[in-house]
Amino acid sequence: MKNINVLPSICYGGDYNPEQWPEEVWYEDAQLMQKAGVNLVSVGIFSWAKIEPQAGIFDFEWLDKVINILYDHGVHVNLSTATASTPAWFVRIYPDSLPVDENGTRLSFGSRQHYCPNHPHLIKHIKKLVRAIAEHYKDHPALKMWHVNNEYACHVSRCYCENCAQAFRKWLKKRYHTIDELNERWGTNFWGQRYNDWDEINPPRKTPTFVNPSQELDYYRFMNDSIFNLFLAEKEILRELTPDIPISTNFMASFKPLNYFQWAEEVDIVTWDSYPDPREGLPVNHAMMNDLMRSLRQGQPFLLMEQVTSHVNWRDINVPKPPGVMRLWSYATIGRGADGIMFFQWRQSRAGAEKFHGAMVSHSGDEHSRVYREVKELGHELSQLDGLVGARIKAEVAILFDWENWWAVELASKPHNKLSYIAIVEHYYRELYKRNIAVDFARPGDDLSKYKVVIAPLLYMIKEREDENLHRFVKNGGTLLMSFFSGIVDENDKVHLGGYPALLRDILGLCVEEFVPIAEGQSNLLQVGGETFECTTWADMIRLEGAQALAVYGEDWYAGHPAVTVHHFGQGKSVYIGTHPESRFVGQLLEKVLAEHHITPPLEVPAKVEVQRRYTENEEYLIIVNHNGHDVQLTLPKDRNYQNVLSGERLHGVKLTVKGIDVVVLKEDKN
Ligand code: GAL
Repeated sequence: MKNINVLPSICYGGDYNPEQWPEEVWYEDAQLMQKAGVNLVSVGIFSWAKIEPQAGIFDFEWLDKVINILYDHGVHVNLSTATASTPAWFVRIYPDSLPVDENGTRLSFGSRQHYCPNHPHLIKHIKKLVRAIAEHYKDHPALKMWHVNNEYACHVSRCYCENCAQAFRKWLKKRYHTIDELNERWGTNFWGQRYNDWDEINPPRKTPTFVNPSQELDYYRFMNDSIFNLFLAEKEILRELTPDIPISTNFMASFKPLNYFQWAEEVDIVTWDSYPDPREGLPVNHAMMNDLMRSLRQGQPFLLMEQVTSHVNWRDINVPKPPGVMRLWSYATIGRGADGIMFFQWRQSRAGAEKFHGAMVSHSGDEHSRVYREVKELGHELSQLDGLVGARIKAEVAILFDWENWWAVELASKPHNKLSYIAIVEHYYRELYKRNIAVDFARPGDDLSKYKVVIAPLLYMIKEREDENLHRFVKNGGTLLMSFFSGIVDENDKVHLGGYPALLRDILGLCVEEFVPIAEGQSNLLQVGGETFECTTWADMIRLEGAQALAVYGEDWYAGHPAVTVHHFGQGKSVYIGTHPESRFVGQLLEKVLAEHHITPPLEVPAKVEVQRRYTENEEYLIIVNHNGHDVQLTLPKDRNYQNVLSGERLHGVKLTVKGIDVVVLKEDKN
């Protein structure tokens, strides 16, 4: 997948909402942007009501002025299609365009994203608007990228209205062709749910007790597809009128309702929004999301489309990022594959629900605030990193990640109903993160041949041919690490019969006979030779069928039973982890596996120092981020020559000091 360079430099800027300000502020804004090294802003995201003040009447005069002022100051635009919120006039004409929740309550106008994706007039109006905007700006030299809608589904990920019910029936017909097939796939003989006619089927609205999980799962798919269709409709018009302008829509990383692997196939570049809570310190989850977002398009660099300079407004208590942290986390993101750092938003709003949300320019409006000074410093630094644009990361480890599996494993009525897919994925990810091992995310059906180690946490759903893919991977010499409650159901959430995990028993060399969830607050022990570790959450009762036990349970009625196993299969092997072991165990296990495959970090560094390596065709960069409050001493390899990109200095000798809350970017000096 080829790289998309939106600009020849690192993109730097943010959401810009000029309609909230009088014209004289636009000039001030453009000057402040120029001073801060801003080169790209996202304009018009919530401007539908301003661009089309009445149905079919378009006003571009104000936006022309804004974009021209920006362009005169060297700022390009990531132009929005303005479809994020329907205007009041639209809602007045089509009151049934307001979405309905599972209890039948219709939501009201007065906030944002108040639309049902399946309203028949919505798509018509969207198409008209997008065509008008694209026709008007297609040749404007400031236009560098399209920002379609905004964070699709962030507030309304599901609608249950009558329009949706009808669309759902159509969607089901297309998927299953006959009502018998649907009954079979949904297992409707259970609780007498059999359907005779498509019109009997409804969205999974509020029911007396558990709704059919297969129906619920299909509703996830259907809603994802309904919203995706809105994106595709916009994309088609933009592609037709501006074939060379990259198209994106901002993702929210671990956002459950949208299958971003599916969406990523249709954007030209992945862009995403990140708001880690400064109260939580070192953002492991942020790193994981960066790796996930980079992996959506096979390693193609992405843009961080939104982050905040300081604090948000939507947590209970909105703590700001301390000095230097915004810069630090920005580099951490660049280290994991970002070619752009953007913010929500440029200027702090005066009115509305987000007036106390941080911005690049605060209410004071001047250049003296700490935040603007940090913004300006970062902008200038990033302008020295042009060489990094397009640089890639090479990972030999992949974690399997699948949205449909996420939907399914967290549906109700499971042996353990507090399993969090993301938390368990992160449990494994964290140990790679701590050791600075580059990691990609991949779908279970993706080509895994470039990886040496594949980790499959909580891969409850195994769809057709995914089992063959895993067989192939292990047979060809890979090491598979698979956690408990994996390989249990098919794409309709129906159990794969024949002993768990039926399709993978031969790779794993075992059969899981029984699940023993462990109550919250309780634990068991894992015994490995003389060493003991804690395990929680779950205990599989494993019958060995060729595998060997690496660890056994230490307590309870199943003490002495295998808990973690290894099995050689073809050229490779699989490790099965039938419980949720403490981090120390996962870390040690991974270290062994990584050593067997000679997988090493770019540098050996102290704790809380992130080091990532990015490669261009001729150059290699090391991005070193010290999250500690104190200085750290690093040792660089003797046989390499590095240049410190930000200071320009050439490094002689092998010692390098990185200050506390600071960053060093090294370029390997090939001369
Ligand atoms: C994002 C959204 C922005 C803004 C921001 C506040 O989710 O796209 O429009 O609301 O959050 O943190």
